[in-house]
Amino acid sequence: MKNIIVFSLPGNEELAKVIALKLKAEVGKSIIRQFPDGESYIRIQSDMKDKSVLLVCTLDRPDEKLLPLYFLSKTAKSLGAKHISLIAPYLAYMRQDKVFNQGEGITSLYFGQLISTFIDKLITIDPHLHRRTKLSEIYNIPTKVEHAANHISNWIKKNVSNPVLVGPDIESAQWVSEVAKNANAPFIVLEKIRRGDNDVEVSIPNVEQFKNHTPVLVDDIISTARTMIETVEHLNAAAMKKSVCIGVHPIFAGDAYQNLLNAGVEKIISCNTIVHESNAIDISDLLNDF
Ligand code: R5P
Repeated sequence: MKNIIVFSLPGNEELAKVIALKLKAEVGKSIIRQFPDGESYIRIQSDMKDKSVLLVCTLDRPDEKLLPLYFLSKTAKSLGAKHISLIAPYLAYMRQDKVFNQGEGITSLYFGQLISTFIDKLITIDPHLHRRTKLSEIYNIPTKVEHAANHISNWIKKNVSNPVLVGPDIESAQWVSEVAKNANAPFIVLEKIRRGDNDVEVSIPNVEQFKNHTPVLVDDIISTARTMIETVEHLNAAAMKKSVCIGVHPIFAGDAYQNLLNAGVEKIISCNTIVHESNAIDISDLLNDF
C-alpha cells in the first residue's frame, strides 16, 4: 500500500505511532474534540489527496467512539482519500451474535453492517468468533484477523514455570489449546453458564494431577471479570497455586480489575489491544502487515 497516512482516534496515539514508524508512514494531523453540547468536532489538517488512510481505533466502549470514527472516515474521503482501513485491535459487539431473548436483535451483525458502510477494510485481533466462524458473515468489506496466541505462549514460556492452562468455557478452547501447544503446556477447559451480566457459574475443575503446576487462565475478553473470578475461586478452593490470569482484550468494566485482584490471583496480564495497566504483552507487530 503506497501513500499511507495513519490517524489515531483519541486514546490510540501510542499504537498509531508504532504502526506509522514500522510502515514508514506519515502520522495524520487532526483535531477531534467535543463541542460544549457534546457533539463531535472533527478537522483534518493533513493533505488527504489519494492517500491510503489507516484509522487506529480500538473499539472497547464503542458507542462513544463510533461517531467520531464515522466523521473522520467520511471527512477523509471528502478530502480526497482513496482507501480507508480501520485498525481495531478489539472489535466490539461480537458477543451479541444471536437472539438470546425474544425481542432482541443480532447487534454484532448490525454493527458489522454499519462499519462496512464507511470503512473499506478492517484489521483486528482475535474477534470473538463463536457461533459465527468468519467476520465475512457479518462484515461486507475485506477483513484481516490476527491472533495473539503466539505472543501469549512466549510470555508464558518466559514468565511461568510449570504452567497448566485453564480455559474457563468451551468458547475459550480454541485459543487455550493453541496457546498451550506453543507453550508446551497441558490444558483443561471448563464449562460456564452465564445467567446475567454479573451472574456466571463455572464448573468445578478436576485439577488433582496439576497440584504442582501454576494455573494460567486464558480468555479472549475480560469484561466484568466474573468468568475469571469464578474460575480462580474454584482453583483456590482446590488448594492450587495462585493463578496467573491472561486476557487478550482487557476491557475491565467498572471495578472488575480490582475485584479480580481481590479474588487472590498471582498476576493479571493482558495484551495491549486496549490500553490498561495490566498490559504486558505487546501485539503491535501483528498490525503492521498490509
Ligand atoms: C465469552 O464467552 C468470552 O469468551 C469471555 O469469557 C467473557 O466475555 C468474559 O466476560 P466477563 O469478564 O464479563 O465474565
